[in-house]
Amino acid sequence: MLDRPMYLKPDVAIEPLFNQWYVWWYLISPATAPLFMSRLHLKLMQSFVANPDVHVAALQNPALMGGPFINHPVSRVNDVKALMERTTRENADMLAYTKAVSDLEQLLASSKGESLEPLYAKVPDMLRGYVELTYDLAHRANARIMEPLLYRSSLYKESAQSISLMRVTGDARKYVFSTPRLEGDSPLWLQVPFRHEGIDALFRMRHTPGSPGQVAEMLGVPASAADAFADLFTETAPRKPEPYTGSGVRVRYFGHACVLMETREVSVLTDPVISYEFPTEQRRFTHADLPEKIDYVLITHGHADHLMMETLLQLRHRIGTIVVPRANAYSLADPSLRLVLERTGFRNVVEIDDLQEIPIPGGSLMGIPFIGEHSDLAVQAKTAHLVRLAGRSLLMAADSNALEPRMYQHLTQLVGPLDALYLGMECEGGPMSWMYGPLLSQPLPRKMDQSRRLNGSDSARATEILNHLNPKEVFIYAMGQEPWLRHVMVLQYDETAPQMIESNKFIDVCKGRGIAAARPFLSMERVLE
Ligand SMILES: [Fe+2]
Ligand SMILES: [Fe+2]
Repeated sequence: MLDRPMYLKPDVAIEPLFNQWYVWWYLISPATAPLFMSRLHLKLMQSFVANPDVHVAALQNPALMGGPFINHPVSRVNDVKALMERTTRENADMLAYTKAVSDLEQLLASSKGESLEPLYAKVPDMLRGYVELTYDLAHRANARIMEPLLYRSSLYKESAQSISLMRVTGDARKYVFSTPRLEGDSPLWLQVPFRHEGIDALFRMRHTPGSPGQVAEMLGVPASAADAFADLFTETAPRKPEPYTGSGVRVRYFGHACVLMETREVSVLTDPVISYEFPTEQRRFTHADLPEKIDYVLITHGHADHLMMETLLQLRHRIGTIVVPRANAYSLADPSLRLVLERTGFRNVVEIDDLQEIPIPGGSLMGIPFIGEHSDLAVQAKTAHLVRLAGRSLLMAADSNALEPRMYQHLTQLVGPLDALYLGMECEGGPMSWMYGPLLSQPLPRKMDQSRRLNGSDSARATEILNHLNPKEVFIYAMGQEPWLRHVMVLQYDETAPQMIESNKFIDVCKGRGIAAARPFLSMERVLE
């Protein structure tokens, strides 16, 4: 039965895991994964093992979903304990790295502007040869991490990577970032690294029939999971995507910051987060609506709702080129997105800089500075993408926060006439600790934590962008409201949430100026002729 040509069912999902925790970019780079393992995962597991009731009780309150609580019943305490012990046992080097990073920070803090040469001998042993010590022009010492070298060290542990496959028959999925997967949670938990070709062979079967038996062999599916694996396949062919044959640009909103732009010659997809397909009243585009080959995937930044490994791994085999912003090697908060993708099996990963232009068939891509939304940390790996196609021009600005409107003034001439602005307006983001806490060796005072939130643009700031770029149409996107994002974004806004109030206000501003504006939800299609 497994050797007949079959398709992958349209509701099959993959969860990429690191030490059994759902993966995002900080858990792939060997420069940052040890910090999250030591200061987040192990701490959460210690807390659960000591007081599982506290976690269970906290999660009774929906407002605490997404908080630092493990979503397993008390009965799983021994499994969590076993994972905690195994993680500690198998990752002693990662724990040592975390300590070395904090020791190095202290060492650099003691330097007073004199030559850094004598400090090389004092760099913690495991970091020696992986860092260059430098001063900025105000004589503050810093270290440049040679991340490509770290990827070649034992700190990059592919053995800690695994995948779990499952069918998703509805939008309801539990929040993933604070709860490890445990043995027995899924029969199809496979010990393969993310770059494994079996993942491509499997997801190619979404559109091209293949042999489940062959893929099972590639992925090393154990005999005990054969039935569960067979259940992922069907003989029924999926819906065929409807190609665009017009002379303009067809723009389809797939949810959140994911937008597909197609001309007759080329397809461009931003920040892929795609719904699985199952019977539902809430109509949306799914994997079945994607072209068989996606020529360009554009990533705006590393946040897990924009660089979502779960979706990217499924698309890897059909992506031509993937464009990412360049990172800043002097900041541990800013691992290279190119390396994250290259080391996990993506080909043709291209970095784009601010104002760099990349020609594509029938148009071009340009990197536009994306400021803010990263707690004032020196994160460079973020970009807005100006997409020019068939004489049209669309700016995908993601979570840009117009902290300094004059930047947009400087861009006015360069951007030129703009047909559509896509802007996220999560004007009240999480506190700094929620995203970046585990990167910090020093304690984070509450006042600092609260003042440096991950805020996107509010109405006043969005209006400043409007003033300078003067788009013909505005779309407020990346609001995290689609139900298929619930496992990565717990927040559901009602009309009293600042994100809704501010975006409604901005829609009114646009309309007052005769600019069409909307906040798409679930799906939307526009054709720019
Ligand atoms: Fe973001
Ligand atoms: Fe976002």
